[in-house]
Amino acid sequence: MMEPVLSLDGITKTFWDSEKSCPALAGVSFDVAAREIVCIMGPSGCGKSTLLRIIGGLDYADAGRIGQTSGNKDKKPSAAMVFQDHALFPWLTVYENIVYGLRLSVQNLPEEEIKKRAESLLELTHLNAFALSYPHQLSGGMKQRASVARALVIKPSVLLMDEPFSALDTFTRRELEDEVLRIRQDLKTTILMVTHNPEEAVYLADRIVILSERPGVVAAILQVDLLYPRDPADPAFIRIREQVTRMIQGKA
Ligand SMILES: Nc1ncnc2c1ncn2[C@@H]1O[C@H](COP(=O)(O)OP(=O)(O)OP(=O)(O)O)[C@@H](O)[C@H]1O
Ligand SMILES: [Mg+2]
Repeated sequence: MMEPVLSLDGITKTFWDSEKSCPALAGVSFDVAAREIVCIMGPSGCGKSTLLRIIGGLDYADAGRIGQTSGNKDKKPSAAMVFQDHALFPWLTVYENIVYGLRLSVQNLPEEEIKKRAESLLELTHLNAFALSYPHQLSGGMKQRASVARALVIKPSVLLMDEPFSALDTFTRRELEDEVLRIRQDLKTTILMVTHNPEEAVYLADRIVILSERPGVVAAILQVDLLYPRDPADPAFIRIREQVTRMIQGKA
């Protein structure tokens, strides 16, 4: 593998509620290469969201190491998160939502550059016509697109997505999955995504990391050797999808 953009080594996390301990992650280790799409799967409660939050700097690990490089010398590494429920600010327009985090994370960026970046992401996510709309005026798919645009505007070294499309209907979901593939192609983004949907994982991922029951450890890593664009009706696709399903259920 090329130099990893992200390397996880022994990530461990226990939550404490009063006196009761809840071990969530028990030493998760794997690497993610530049431009790779890695999907994380595993039983509910095994620590997938916790892992993503730790990588994104929204929570801390009790033990373990996260190595992150931008894969680009002049840029400091960063991760940006897309949540299941878009998490857009309802009182800001789509445009303002997109630039809000950029202003916070990159100080003194010229207004012109801010505008240029926001506009190119509105274009990329097909939201040009909705720049001045508020989140409540958007469909579910458009809200998720806006939150993908908001995450990408800081030019993160890794895009983290936690079940970003699970609330969408099948057709919208496939459209957004295709956008993820296009984003990787156009922006050379590295993507780490949690999903519960084996078809989505096999459609998108170069590799699928399967976590065990809580507390999560890496149970298996599966390389998906199918060319893009992938066809979910292809027998090879179906075989891998079924294998993934069995692995998550702990039957393989
Ligand atoms: N802030 C918290 N305080 C206490 N316990 C927590 C907290 N966040 C998560 N947990 C616990 O840690 C474990 C892992 O939670 P997490 O949300 O990471 O699981 P998950 O794999 O994302 O599950 P799902 O697939 O249902 O989204 C769960 O047992 C959960 O109850
Ligand atoms: Mg979760």
